[in-house]
Formats: sequence, C-alpha cells, structure tokens
Amino acid sequence: MPFPFANTLHGATAVADASRVAVEVSTATVSCSVCGPGASFSPPLKPAEPRIMIVDDEQSNVRLLERLLAHGKCGNVTGITDPREALTCFHELQPDLVLLDLHMPYMDGFALLRALRAATATGEYLPVLMLTGDDDRSVREQALALGANDFVAKPFELSETLLRIRNLLETRRLHLVLGRENRSLEERVAERTRQLQESQFETLRRLAQAAEFRDDDTGQHTQRVGELSARLARVAGLDDDMVEHLRLAAPLHDIGKIGIPDTILLKPGKLSSEEFAVMQRHTTIGASILSDGQSSFIQMAETIALSHHERWDGSGYPNNLAGSDIPLVARVVGIADFFDALTHARPYRGAVPLPAVLELMRSESGRHFDPALLEIFLTELVDMQGLKPV
Ligand SMILES: [Fe+2]
Repeated sequence: MPFPFANTLHGATAVADASRVAVEVSTATVSCSVCGPGASFSPPLKPAEPRIMIVDDEQSNVRLLERLLAHGKCGNVTGITDPREALTCFHELQPDLVLLDLHMPYMDGFALLRALRAATATGEYLPVLMLTGDDDRSVREQALALGANDFVAKPFELSETLLRIRNLLETRRLHLVLGRENRSLEERVAERTRQLQESQFETLRRLAQAAEFRDDDTGQHTQRVGELSARLARVAGLDDDMVEHLRLAAPLHDIGKIGIPDTILLKPGKLSSEEFAVMQRHTTIGASILSDGQSSFIQMAETIALSHHERWDGSGYPNNLAGSDIPLVARVVGIADFFDALTHARPYRGAVPLPAVLELMRSESGRHFDPALLEIFLTELVDMQGLKPV
C-alpha cells in the first residue's frame, strides 16, 4: 500500500508498518540561499555528509522526500521545484545524488537528465534516481539510455525509496574512495618513477664525467656541452621535451673515449693518420655502449655519440653523412662541442681566443656546420664577449 503524500504528513506523524518507515520529523524548510525562493534547504549537519538534490515540481513530494531523508539521516538535502533553476543549483551544490521527477513543466526530466549528464565530469559517477508515476517501459528505457541509475515509483514506498537512495549513495561513496586511492597511487608511482629516472640520470652524468676526466680533469666540458646544446635547441625552436632530453643526452657524446688509449687521447700535437683512425672510433664505441636503449633519452644519446662528428658537407665520420641526413640533435651537439672544446684549455693545448673561434666557425658554415643552425648559434647565443646571458 503506498505511503500517503506529504500534505497529509507535514507536521504530523505517520506510523509505518513493517515495510514502511515512520516519518516523524518536521523538517525546517527554509529558502535556499543558493537556488532562490523556488528551493527549500535543510542546513548541512556536517561538511562530509552527502549532498542530495531533489527536483520535483510538486512541493508536497519535495517535502515528503526531505523528511524521509532527514529521518534516514541520509545527508544534506536541497529541494528544487522549478526545473529551470536546477542546473544552476547543480553546479553550485555539486550533489552526490539527484532525485529527479520525470514530468515537470518548462523542462521535463529527460531534458534535465541530459543536461546533468553533459555537466558531469567524464569518469565521475553521479547517481540519478528517477521519480516517476509512469509504468511505461519505453519511458524507463529512455531514461536509462540517458543515464538514469534507478527508479522509484510514485506514490513512494518509503522503505524501498530509502534503500535505493542509500544504495546509490554507497556506490557513489565507493567510487569517490576508489578515485582518491587511484589518484594517490598514481602520485606515488609518478614520484617513484621520477626518483628512479633521476637516479638513472645521475648515474649517466657520472659516467660521462668519468669518461671526460681522462682529458679534462674538471669533467665540466660534458656538462657545458649539455647546457649549450639545450640552449641552442631552444632558440632553434625544438620542443621542450627535445630540449630537456638534449640537456641530459649531450654530455654522453664522448662516452666512447673510454675505449681510446691514453697514448692517443692525451697525445699533445697532431695525430698520425693511424692514430686519428683509432680516435674516430670513439663515435662507434660510444654508440655501442649506448645501443639497444629502452628509453628515448638513451636512444638520443646513442644517436649523438655516433653522429656528432659528421659534417654538413659529408666529409665527417664515421658514416660520411651529409646535410639533413645528419640527425638534428647531432648537428646541435656538433656545434656546441666544437665551440666549448676550442674556447677551453685541454691538457695538451691552451684555449683558442674567442674571435679566432668565431671566425673559424663562420668559415665552416655549410662545410662542417649546418649553416642555418650555425647562424642561429652565432646571432642568438654568442657575441665577441662570449656566450650571451640566458
Ligand atoms: Fe667526440
């Protein structure tokens, strides 16, 4: 037997049988400050309570549901009788559950349900319980297709209505808990990944310094080449990922020097053709050390190690690549490496004066260096005082 409507209960007591819920609460109904005079509002009991929005053009139904939910201690309830105010109220209240009447003037439940679903964030579980006196199966199917989660029939069976509301609120709560746990897990995984990546980078930085230490006991050349390559890549318009990869991968360009004998690596003066042939092998040794890398960073480092001595006119080594066949990152590092190596002293020679280095580099435009990239380097990054401030 259906439960009588609110106008018979307002301020009165109804005693339920075993299948019913007694409603003895006289809800303090006040005008909703959020939604205006068309809404009634039960003040929140505590901030963590679920927020429930009722949209029904019949005030008596809203009052009945408010008292039922207050009796069931289901949460903080806001009732709307004008469906045109519902969407504004929805945005401001961000409810955990919507009880939605189907047949209303101005905007029926289907239209409002469609609008609510469009306003719900992707992946968010917002339960909508439809209130309908309509037994028509097609009506229910249409509501389900639009995203309704459950139905209660009018006139309301109160215990069933309360149970359905609690079920939907519990499902919503579990979704929120799961979402928080997933976000927390993602944050922990991201932090651990960052730590692991930083650890890998540190290992590779120290490896580059170890190789460099043999002919530059400060070990700073590799890091300067990394920074200068990143700056050149940025002014040349490469994207942020490429710039940061270059900053980390460029210092490994001479890692292959590990495999070159000291008698050749540290020989003062000119190398013989046989010695130069051995020296050239630092490119292929470096690429071999870095080969089969799983990360894009190591793969870039391998490319740079192999090709940073190729020349624009095809006279470089080890593969005599020419022009744009030389990977762009290798062309960038080739310029940075050349500039830094000549402007700093080595154990077997002093630093070359800056004007002479710039003149030499200009004369090598289109021969040793990519002319467009060199022009950017010489106009954007260096002048006669040296490197421009960042
Ligand atoms: Fe090199």
